Amino acid sequence: MTGVVLVTGGGGVGKTTIAAAVGVAAAEAGHETLVLTVDPARRLATALGLEQLGNHPEPNPKLKGLSAAMLDSAASWDAIAYRHAPADIAERLVTNPLFDAVATRFPSGQSYAAAEEMTVHIESGKWDVIVVDTPPASGGIEFFASPTRMRELVGGRLLRWLTGAGLPGRRGLFNLAGRPALRLADTLLGGPLLEQVAEFLFDLRTTYDGISAKSVDIEQHLRAASTVVVTTADPGPLREALRFHEVGIKPALVVFNRALPSEWLAHEEPLVDGRAAAALNENLARWALEVRRQEDSRADFSGRVATPVAAVPWLADAPVDLEGLRAILAGSPELSLDRLGI
Ligand SMILES: Nc1ncnc2c1ncn2[C@@H]1O[C@H](COP(=O)(O)OP(=O)(O)OP(=O)(O)O)[C@@H](O)[C@H]1O
Ligand SMILES: [Mg+2]
Repeated sequence: MTGVVLVTGGGGVGKTTIAAAVGVAAAEAGHETLVLTVDPARRLATALGLEQLGNHPEPNPKLKGLSAAMLDSAASWDAIAYRHAPADIAERLVTNPLFDAVATRFPSGQSYAAAEEMTVHIESGKWDVIVVDTPPASGGIEFFASPTRMRELVGGRLLRWLTGAGLPGRRGLFNLAGRPALRLADTLLGGPLLEQVAEFLFDLRTTYDGISAKSVDIEQHLRAASTVVVTTADPGPLREALRFHEVGIKPALVVFNRALPSEWLAHEEPLVDGRAAAALNENLARWALEVRRQEDSRADFSGRVATPVAAVPWLADAPVDLEGLRAILAGSPELSLDRLGI
């Protein structure tokens, strides 16, 4: 059984960093570990052993048991088409310009592609632990909603209405083109475009059976995984973290990243004597106030939701190498592999 950890949350809160840190800890605990990451900063990618930013797992030359791969949404969409449509239709789909538009614009597309890629790795049976850094769309929630959204896109009412209840074949294409609303569009926009749209819709419909079955598997994997929601003590990320609870997703842990050290609370009282130290004392007192605000914010959050919370320290050096990544878990007793079911 592969243990899966999903690291999610709003933009810029530290998802990629925390996912990498959990991956390093899991590998060091002796688990064959894969980190699936989204757009890591260059130095972090190097620390993870990603020399080429591809979606094939690469073993880390510096840490045995750790591999990493990028979730590459464009490549995954092609793979999805070939997986769920007959080869000739898949070929036509991926070369249709609308396919590209859907792959890049449909808000759940990137997330669904990532979720399917994650599922392929889980079902390969090759890994003890897979840590997934989720794409940041809609504060990470999109990732969890993407299987349903995708089913709706390829089998939903709009497409059924346009292409008919079943899959009527090319004759249906002709009927579709004959619809008054689309005839008008044809006149306005030109025939080839309409034909391309119609063909695209039919081809997309053929993926429905495959995608609806696969999306159910994905939902099961998402339910079985341990979810870590990353936030900071600031209002925007906090609101996004609360939304997981509002939509019924129960995280294993909520991580408050970039927390200031509690010891700084001592500096509410002057630390240094003498006039020259007044400015320093004032500065320290201000930081102590910020520590209190962060602690209150964590207490308030855990009072509202029955979920364990962890504080991850704000490190003086950005955690972009193995040593920095180790320091993340070392500084946070609550963020442990145990807590994540690993
Ligand atoms: N605990 C920490 N201490 C110090 N710096 C941190 C910490 N956690 C993350 N950072 C830094 O904060 C920045 C954002 O982190 P990261 O890229 O992991 O966030 P993200 O949630 O993945 O962002 P995005 O939504 O853009 O993908 C990076 O420069 C990272 O090095
Ligand atoms: Mg990231």
